[in-house]
Amino acid sequence: MSSISNIVGGVDLKVPVVIASGTWPYEEGMWQEDLTRNVGAICSKAITRRPWPGNPGTRVWETPSGILNSIGLQNEGIDHFMDVRLDQLKKHGVPVMLNVSMENAEDLDYMVARIAERAGDVDGIELNVSCPNTDRGCMSWGVDPELTAQATEQVRRKWDGPLWVKLTPQAPDIPAVAKGAESAGASAVVAANTWLGMAIDTKRGAPVFRRRVAGLSGPAVFPLALRVVWDVAGAVKIPVIGCGGVSSADNALAMIMAGASAVEVGAALFSGFDRLEEIHAGLEASVRQWGVKSLAELRGKARTDNP
Ligand SMILES: Cc1cc2nc3c(=O)[nH]c(=O)nc-3n(C[C@H](O)[C@H](O)[C@H](O)COP(=O)(O)O)c2cc1C
Repeated sequence: MSSISNIVGGVDLKVPVVIASGTWPYEEGMWQEDLTRNVGAICSKAITRRPWPGNPGTRVWETPSGILNSIGLQNEGIDHFMDVRLDQLKKHGVPVMLNVSMENAEDLDYMVARIAERAGDVDGIELNVSCPNTDRGCMSWGVDPELTAQATEQVRRKWDGPLWVKLTPQAPDIPAVAKGAESAGASAVVAANTWLGMAIDTKRGAPVFRRRVAGLSGPAVFPLALRVVWDVAGAVKIPVIGCGGVSSADNALAMIMAGASAVEVGAALFSGFDRLEEIHAGLEASVRQWGVKSLAELRGKARTDNP
């Protein structure tokens, strides 16, 4: 046990920093050998029942301090993931979370059954009821506390391992959705996925994205995500994993002081994987600077001092 390691929602994180879904390259040529020294776990790209080609047209658009993306859940489907990608991702030697997204209850049943066949090799499921980039299912579950509870419960029928539920900031009452997930057996909630935004290409006089809207992430959303973490951590007893705009150790520490047990990092990786080293080292330094034995002692610190 190091001063920053922590078991979060049933997953043993040597470093409380997790690679956010969709932001880690599957191309092994891009992997650097010591990369996962600074990473507690990796979330897979979203996996769906069948292969999905993703969205046509522009998929990524840079904004001041952020990225709009409309990838649209491009992936090879659960069968290919279980047969090929899982073993590939496990080569990193850190826990692998399977980010699972569905159109309907039948899809979810099939996927969880396939995952359960290799329960010994899967470290956990991250139930994605929050992707804003598709018309088929997904976020329509995550905006509603009852539907989120239903989906969580459905996973629980076939899966008793770690189950993180990834929330959407588009839900009108995010703490209520988090409570729905908790009541149905989630081990942790991830707060949160991307924020609906849009861009207009003024040279063409048209929206940049074919679906018009896209998901915003990166430093621009950090204060918004921090507020969501604060609200959700005040509503549930299960761990909260902060996600949205974390690009420094200070951001990660702020999430932890708001009540998070770990953070996910996504967009920040696009400006260099060495961010992970900085965040890791910075979190260890903050334990020393605060004169505490472990990072866990700083969890919720901002809440207790300023109720
Ligand atoms: C290019 C890209 C692809 C993404 N794909 C997924 C995905 O497949 N599933 C998912 O749950 N989130 C996906 N996300 C959202 C991230 O996992 C994360 O929740 C979000 O970007 C906020 O964190 P960040 O500001 O650190 O990037 C994606 C984000 C980006 C930028």
